[in-house]
Amino acid sequence: MKTTEKVVILDFGGQYTQLIARRVRELKVYCEIMHYNIPYEELRASAPDALIFSGGSASVYAPGAPRCDPRFYDLQVPILGICYGMQLMAVDLGGVVREGLRQEYGKTNLFVQGKNELLAGVDQEFTAWMSHGDQVITVPPGFTVIAGSGNTTVAAMADPKRKFFGLQFHPEVIHTPQGKLILSNFLERICTFSGKWTMENFVDSSTAEIKGMLGPHKRVVCGLSGGVDSAVAAALVHRAVGDRLVCIFVDHGFLRKGEKDAVLATFARGFNMNIIAVDAGEEFLTRLRGVTDPEVKRKIIGNHFIRVFEREAEKLGEISYLVQGTLYPDVIESGTATAAVIKSHHNVGGLPEDMRLGLIEPLKYLFKDEVRQVGLELGLPEEIVWRHPFPGPGLGVRVLGEVTPEKVAILQEADAIIIEEIKAAGLYREIWQVFAVLPDIRSVGVKGDRRTYAHTIVLRAVTSQDGMTADWYPLPYDLLGRISSRLVNEIPQVNRFVYDLTSKPPATIEWE
Ligand code: XMP
Repeated sequence: MKTTEKVVILDFGGQYTQLIARRVRELKVYCEIMHYNIPYEELRASAPDALIFSGGSASVYAPGAPRCDPRFYDLQVPILGICYGMQLMAVDLGGVVREGLRQEYGKTNLFVQGKNELLAGVDQEFTAWMSHGDQVITVPPGFTVIAGSGNTTVAAMADPKRKFFGLQFHPEVIHTPQGKLILSNFLERICTFSGKWTMENFVDSSTAEIKGMLGPHKRVVCGLSGGVDSAVAAALVHRAVGDRLVCIFVDHGFLRKGEKDAVLATFARGFNMNIIAVDAGEEFLTRLRGVTDPEVKRKIIGNHFIRVFEREAEKLGEISYLVQGTLYPDVIESGTATAAVIKSHHNVGGLPEDMRLGLIEPLKYLFKDEVRQVGLELGLPEEIVWRHPFPGPGLGVRVLGEVTPEKVAILQEADAIIIEEIKAAGLYREIWQVFAVLPDIRSVGVKGDRRTYAHTIVLRAVTSQDGMTADWYPLPYDLLGRISSRLVNEIPQVNRFVYDLTSKPPATIEWE
């Protein structure tokens, strides 16, 4: 018997595709996003129990508009088409789509027509988010219109016999207040899913899968950084194979204050994991001496990190796999993004090309908040599960200009004070990232009647969904005041404090 009910969301280039996936998973149904032109055999082999066609910006009749293999309609599974997805379905199945007389964008009032399972329980008149130019003017044979608006005769259509449905509006966005009900009707009433996909199930099925991959003897290595992704991935693999997982924790000397001790306390002592901690601070500092260019600094840290990791891994004897904490947004991004390189990011524990290890990426289909739930499920402390993202090169890219041990020490102190105050104010979880930066400047001040010529600390606090874009966070003045006075009083080398009020873009989150 199949244990997991699965929805495949075909991505036709819509801006809300990830959001559809989020909503489906919130309803406790497992789903994956696939490119619209996935070959028929591949889609069939992945055994979806239902399909959702996403929105997209093209016009169905435009040359080169995204189309899928028409055999997808023969898979005998329910299909929900959203916006472009509905228009495509209409055209593929014999209906007619035309450029709308008026384009509809934003909130629109719709009216339910007749009775149907998809809109069961939805108010007779309801608000939905529209964003379309084209519209269906004739539904395909077998379909009936189930909702309309002032401008759109066919705002929703249904063929209950084949279980094919189309929505011209977006049920996945919050501006469609009853959208969740509509999606849940699709999953529960139409697909008759039981909605049992939880993180607890995920932990069980994924440990079983990892056990299967590694058999009774194979060993696996993981680069632990103390960040939530690698921590959860390691804890999951540890649950599956115990001591056959060896974690390598490279301390490059640019970690946050107390970070190394916290990681070792949690994993080595708390979880009894096999961890090799490498103190490589000196090696990194030596290589960075006199280097001020941010990209060069990043490359030096990244390359040397891999070298240290490899050196340690080689001492371990026969190893077959490497664990990576890749998340679903990274997978989706790397499949589609052609963005220019703004900064050369490297993930701690990144796969050295010539290591010839198999990859285990147990979080590959999870979103960040799901990873956190898995972490809690596995018994990881909240301190680690809720930790803010931290760049691979660490404080090396937050000490601007040349990195010296003195500057790193000042930054560690400043960062610790800031984090402590933010946590005390109960704001830590609300903020995506908050941290200190040490710019490469000194300025004149006066402390105890004496002239000082000392460092400035910058505070960066941002909200973000995924780190791709970000907004500066409006911290309360009294909190900023407390942080300011603690920084200049407790750190002798600091005499000035400033607050970064730029969003991304045009700035980036990190300063280098
Ligand atoms: P930027 O500075 O590009 O950062 O706006 C976006 C997000 O990525 C994090 N970041 C990194 N993460 N290795 C990482 O694993 C890196 O080299 C790296 N550089 C930046 C940054 O903290 C933010 O969350």
